[in-house]
Amino acid sequence: MSDTSHASVPGASPLAEQTDRHRLYELSVQCAEAEVDFIDQNFRLLRGRSARLLREDFCGTASVCCEWVQRRKTNRAIGVDIDREVLDWGRTNNLSELPDDLAKRAMLLEANVLEVETPSPDIIVAMNFSYWLLKHRPALKRYFKRVRKALKDDGMFFLDAYGGYDSYRIITEERTIEGGDGDFTYIWEQERYDPVSGRLVCHISFAFPDGSRMDRAFSYDWRLWSLPEIRELLDEAGFKRVLCYWQGWDQDGNPDGVFTPVQAGEPDAGWIAYLTAEK
Ligand SMILES: C[S@@+](CC[C@H](N)C(=O)[O-])C[C@H]1O[C@@H](n2cnc3c(N)ncnc32)[C@H](O)[C@@H]1O
Repeated sequence: MSDTSHASVPGASPLAEQTDRHRLYELSVQCAEAEVDFIDQNFRLLRGRSARLLREDFCGTASVCCEWVQRRKTNRAIGVDIDREVLDWGRTNNLSELPDDLAKRAMLLEANVLEVETPSPDIIVAMNFSYWLLKHRPALKRYFKRVRKALKDDGMFFLDAYGGYDSYRIITEERTIEGGDGDFTYIWEQERYDPVSGRLVCHISFAFPDGSRMDRAFSYDWRLWSLPEIRELLDEAGFKRVLCYWQGWDQDGNPDGVFTPVQAGEPDAGWIAYLTAEK
């Protein structure tokens, strides 16, 4: 049996040219199932009922919307993104994979999250730090206020954040990812951090076993917001209660993927946290 998985095949185009950057992104940084588990369980825990309408802000390929509508017949989803190209990709590759009766319960809107008007959702989510592109307090507070206003009376906002001392460093980290068409390397690059403004410039690149690369397939020009800043802005935007969820450790000393509300975290090199903000 010949194994061509780690060598370039003569005449074939490099793996980087055969692969789709959005699919690589989803495989590397998103786990819609775990996200929806967390969102669904914690909404029910805090509100005593199941949510129905979820709005995914900065939805990109809309993988959370697609996961949401698969969970219950009563679930509906609205995805909002400013970029038509990524929405079209989501429609063609994710929504179209769903049976019609599920797909018709998900709607994707090409709009700016700072301006969009939608029916009032039970839940609004903003994941993978996308709201960090709002770099100044007035803009972020305006977004948080709009989210609060858009939610149903007992609605909840779910968002995430990362930090730790490594987040201030100029570093490149690599992880091997198992893809359906073979393994590849996900490369996270923090190119620039400015302590005065908090500006953080990062990139995602991908490398393949045949030596080909997709350099800086995604770039982010963000502010590295701290948890106290985010919590204070959510308070100022009028949310009644803001909770911060920290991850535990398994027996081998690895993060266990279970996030619980905490009053204090740990000064790790790199952490990821979730927040909930209740209207
Ligand atoms: C990092 S991706 C997030 C994708 C996905 N939500 C996730 O969790 O991985 C950020 C997305 O935000 C979109 N975006 C940027 N500014 C926006 C805005 N003002 N309104 C709506 N979408 C925006 C971009 O087009 C991009 O698809």
